[in-house]
Amino acid sequence: MTGYPDVRSVLADSAGYSNDLVGRLGASAAGKHHLGGLGLCDPPEHTRLRHLLVPEFTGRRLQDLQPLIEGIVDDALDDLSRLGDAGEPVDLVEHLARPVAARTISMMLGLDEDEHAVLHRLSSQRFDLAGSGGGPFGPISDAIGHLLEVVRRQRAHPAPGLIGRLLRDHGTELTDTQIAGLADGLWTGGLESTTSALALGGYLLGTDSVAAHLLRDDDRKGVDRWVEELLRYTSVVQVAFPRVALADAELGGERVLAGDLVVCSLSAANRDAKFVDDAAQFLPDGRPRTHLAFGHGPHRCIGAELARLELRTTLPRLAVRFPQLRAVAPIPRTDGERLSFIYGLPAVRVLLEDGGPAHSSRHAGRP
Ligand code: HEM
Repeated sequence: MTGYPDVRSVLADSAGYSNDLVGRLGASAAGKHHLGGLGLCDPPEHTRLRHLLVPEFTGRRLQDLQPLIEGIVDDALDDLSRLGDAGEPVDLVEHLARPVAARTISMMLGLDEDEHAVLHRLSSQRFDLAGSGGGPFGPISDAIGHLLEVVRRQRAHPAPGLIGRLLRDHGTELTDTQIAGLADGLWTGGLESTTSALALGGYLLGTDSVAAHLLRDDDRKGVDRWVEELLRYTSVVQVAFPRVALADAELGGERVLAGDLVVCSLSAANRDAKFVDDAAQFLPDGRPRTHLAFGHGPHRCIGAELARLELRTTLPRLAVRFPQLRAVAPIPRTDGERLSFIYGLPAVRVLLEDGGPAHSSRHAGRP
């Protein structure tokens, strides 16, 4: 599905479309561990598990995280500054976006550095539709295997953070595998998508001086609007979790049969010309434009407010600290990344100070 209204109606309809892809494709596809996680299950199980996580994402909890996230961002900006001191290009993915996203979600979950380093390696293969061996399900089950060890360790000694709290408050009603699956969904959602959104935000700052200027204005509403437009325009989660149709239906003028796989393109929906004016333009100071970048309905991104907090904290700080920031090259792409569910970026190389050739564009296409 590519049209905004069709995508929205599929995502809203958990009675008509199932997210339990693994159950419906057969357990063997899941590898040796049972897959958990919110994105791959249906009500009533989905509703029950989601309710356990919602308290972790309340305004109050996010408020407590804000100063910690500011500290994480400032540390990353200090590193960036040291690396870019010699006038050499630096990579925003490696030195800003990924550390901010990884340290934030690790802190939230209560993982230590070693634990998240292993997960990081496994997650880069996660969304590769062309992946060899078990395809995308191989790395998913390996990551859950690793998180299962973390949960087992924490059952004996709960750490501060979400895994420890789930074990303390719901340890009798949830199995270790369920907690590992929930943690896996959060860690992956928190890492890859937010890394890409942060890095693409940095790229837009480095190629569009008008847009960069808006972020330096100290106007909170303006920053919020900028970030919403970034989310719409880049649509880093390119497709929603695939759904299986539970009944015959008419969708977008096509006949869908029960059992068919339905894939919703969020990037296409967010640029549906029938629904969004000037959809291919990045217009961060224009009228706010609605989007489906976090999905819609019961599976809508549970980490949306955390992601917004990371973006709203990082991008203005980057713009103020490095007013000369300029991208030195277009973003390189590889076949593997083009096939990914997530609009991943191998690198975003920028110069922090004046001097040297810059890459510039007003954005009529996707970066
Ligand atoms: C810019 C950053 C992010 C984007 C664009 C994004 C996008 C999305 C989208 C589109 C979905 C819904 C997919 C569907 O309905 O099939 C989703 C679900 C989800 N996201 Fe995010 N996400 C982001 C950040 C995060 C963060 C920071 C976390 C965790 C801390 C997270 C955790 C999740 C989880 C657990 C789900 C599954 C929810 C459910 O099925 O009930 N995401 N995300």
